[in-house]
Amino acid sequence: MSKKICLTGVKPTGMPHLGNYIGAIKPAIDMANSGEYESYYFIADYHSLVGVHDPKLLRSYIYEVAAAWLAMGLDPKKVTLYKQSDIPEILELHWITSCFTVKGLMNRAHAYKASVQANLEQERDEDHGVNMGLFTYPILMASDIMILNADVVPVGADQLQHIEIARDIATAFNNTYGNKLKLPKGIVREGNKLLAGLDGRKMSKSYNNHIPLFSTEKELKKLINRITTDSSDPSIPKNPEESLIFDFYSEFATVDQTEALRTWYLRGIGWGEAKMELLSVLNSMLAGPREIYAELMANPKKIDFILEEGQAKVRPQAQKLINDLKHTIGVR
Ligand code: TRP
Repeated sequence: MSKKICLTGVKPTGMPHLGNYIGAIKPAIDMANSGEYESYYFIADYHSLVGVHDPKLLRSYIYEVAAAWLAMGLDPKKVTLYKQSDIPEILELHWITSCFTVKGLMNRAHAYKASVQANLEQERDEDHGVNMGLFTYPILMASDIMILNADVVPVGADQLQHIEIARDIATAFNNTYGNKLKLPKGIVREGNKLLAGLDGRKMSKSYNNHIPLFSTEKELKKLINRITTDSSDPSIPKNPEESLIFDFYSEFATVDQTEALRTWYLRGIGWGEAKMELLSVLNSMLAGPREIYAELMANPKKIDFILEEGQAKVRPQAQKLINDLKHTIGVR
């Protein structure tokens, strides 16, 4: 029996941070390396166009995100990596699926609703600043998924609604034409607690409390020093479960290292010492990937080559699906 197809998209928004790595990049790479699925990961560049209207910036975001995944261990021999905009059939499917998406479904999508809500709070027109790309974002996402008949889609919890919408769209289409489109299943990694940011809130670029994945050692040191701590004496025992520094540490250290630090906490540790330990673990884990990242960013042709190979593999499959659908709907 052939393997199930696992597909996910990454929206390019610049260099990922440690929270993105723990929450999305690492689980997706682990899933691909498990060999359980046939994996397709793509860069959702047209999705970024919804909000990024600066060509230089968009181009660099695309390379940054591709280089980051490759540097953190995505193996293009195990995962087909491609760029959404290289597969124009996704847009053909986007139109076809649009004609089976009732407008009310889009009105209920979280991202659009959040924009409307923000506008109403500021006493602006409810659709102020909303382009049709934002409004129909979930239809493009459904097309990304269905173009390759994906079975499972690893996503963050915030994206689950979009997968449900994709299922609704596929169901509407299938009700008319028979079982043509596969209903995808969203997978959210369990037990994956969110990595907090430097101030304890969710790590996010928009809160400016994040640690960029490829910060230099010096930058890492500065950022780690920003983690707020109390002024308790080093000799006083500390609770590791209530320490952001410990949380970070345990994500990146080995089990033995984590246990050693736990003991040190219970015995009494100075916050300066705890921060030094964190810096050392983070830096040794990231030093290798940081070099690979810099190397790829200096040689973007290497990234282009990988993405072209991905396109060459995906496009014939996409063309086949679109040809079949054209017959199904009667334009051919
Ligand atoms: N919307 C997703 C995000 O913001 C990215 C994405 C686009 C995606 N198309 C997809 C994810 C298809 C999974 C499947 O994270």
